[in-house]
Amino acid sequence: MSSDTMVGTLSSDLFEKQLSEEIRYCILLNGKIVDCNYYGHLLIEEYGDILFDHVLEYDQKSLYSFIKEISGTHKVIERVFNQRIKGETHKVRYRGMLDIHNHILISGYIEKTVEITRYTFPETMKTIFNELQFMFILIDHDNQVLFSSDQYINIVKTYEKENKCKHPFGEVIRNMACIMRLNKINIERYHYLEDKLYHIYGIYHQEVNHISFTFNEIEKTEEFEKLIQYKQQMESVSQLAAGFAHELRNPLSVIRGFIQLSTLTNSMDKYYRTILSEIDRMNTILDDFLSLSRKSTKKKGSIPQTIFKSIMPLIHSECLLRNILLKCDIEPSAREINLDESMIKQVLLNILRNSVEAFEEEQENKTFIVQGKTSENAYTLIITDNGPGMEQTVLDQLGKPFFTTKANGTGIGLPMCKKIIKDHHGTFIINSNLGEGTEIIIKLPFI
Ligand SMILES: Nc1ncnc2c1ncn2[C@@H]1O[C@H](COP(=O)(O)OP(=O)(O)OP(=O)(O)O)[C@@H](O)[C@H]1O
Ligand SMILES: [Mg+2]
Repeated sequence: MSSDTMVGTLSSDLFEKQLSEEIRYCILLNGKIVDCNYYGHLLIEEYGDILFDHVLEYDQKSLYSFIKEISGTHKVIERVFNQRIKGETHKVRYRGMLDIHNHILISGYIEKTVEITRYTFPETMKTIFNELQFMFILIDHDNQVLFSSDQYINIVKTYEKENKCKHPFGEVIRNMACIMRLNKINIERYHYLEDKLYHIYGIYHQEVNHISFTFNEIEKTEEFEKLIQYKQQMESVSQLAAGFAHELRNPLSVIRGFIQLSTLTNSMDKYYRTILSEIDRMNTILDDFLSLSRKSTKKKGSIPQTIFKSIMPLIHSECLLRNILLKCDIEPSAREINLDESMIKQVLLNILRNSVEAFEEEQENKTFIVQGKTSENAYTLIITDNGPGMEQTVLDQLGKPFFTTKANGTGIGLPMCKKIIKDHHGTFIINSNLGEGTEIIIKLPFI
């Protein structure tokens, strides 16, 4: 890239390194740098021509929304990002705007050098952590490992040797660290490694921007159902089991919505029945969980449009409250499917809740589409949102129980949906494109 190719709107004298220490780029919506000044060029040599690779990993999502925000307005937008420059982490203040040719112009200057005092883990603490039952690691602001206990090193080495592949905890740790730094919170996750399940607890040390993780191996469990039961048994009475709370959250949010609606419209009568039936559903869920008898579902032959149309008012009210446009097109069919109505309802509400949680607040024209189509042997539901979609790394992990990218997620919504559809001898497929949206295709065979 030479100054000859620079976009005309970037005044050439600003590129003179003597005049300005600012970094200047002209980029496309996907972050590709198509033009830059001298300092920008130096950074491209080091980090490549995709701007996302220039900032630290936990800032990439925020850079994505920064670029999106710029592309939707003609105002100057400003934000600070953590960026590696010549081996050191700097806070770089970016200002960006759209020019008349719809190029995204970005300038950045180093605000303040982040003090990097390399922390050394005290020797006495190392001895203690090496003696403990659980594995432990401590990472710094840049996700560099400051200390890892012997047990941790052994497991990682054994795994890498046997499988000849990448770090067994790398992905989950990076994912957790990103959420923890963004929200400045502690979080926990469950993680499968072959047939072992680990409970990982991350503590965020805000003063130094370090994170420590402890890993506890949970006894070998073969099926997801057993995991949920195990989780329930493990939680104390005062803490509701994650799965249990999860199932109750859907009817609760519907009840909340309807009570809000009834105050808005000043009529309780209209919503009274739905609220009562949702409370009954909570009771059923409670019974189900208390007896832990989720295997025996109550399926019966039903015409698809009757079931799906009866669910639509709930979805409609949820969308109304959250400013989401609902489009619904359920093709009638004369043939029946064998299904458990309450379970299928759970699936749809879980999918809707994921879409609701995925939409960014500032997005306009949020849309949720439910289509039902008949084919020769099955009834197909296609559920689409035009939210932010998912990255390939997220898509790759979707089937795994407990995989979540949310600070408060439990990561059992989609595995539960998949399991329910499998119990109905159906198929469940997720397609998603980053920046475009997500599509879920559920196929349920006719009787
Ligand atoms: N419609 C969607 N748009 C974008 N990302 C999605 C969508 N649905 C799911 N995801 C991603 O898939 C992950 C897993 O979803 P899942 O429903 O299994 O768990 P969760 O929503 O994180 O937690 P839970 O449902 O247990 O509260 C989410 O954390 C999110 O990153
Ligand atoms: Mg979910």
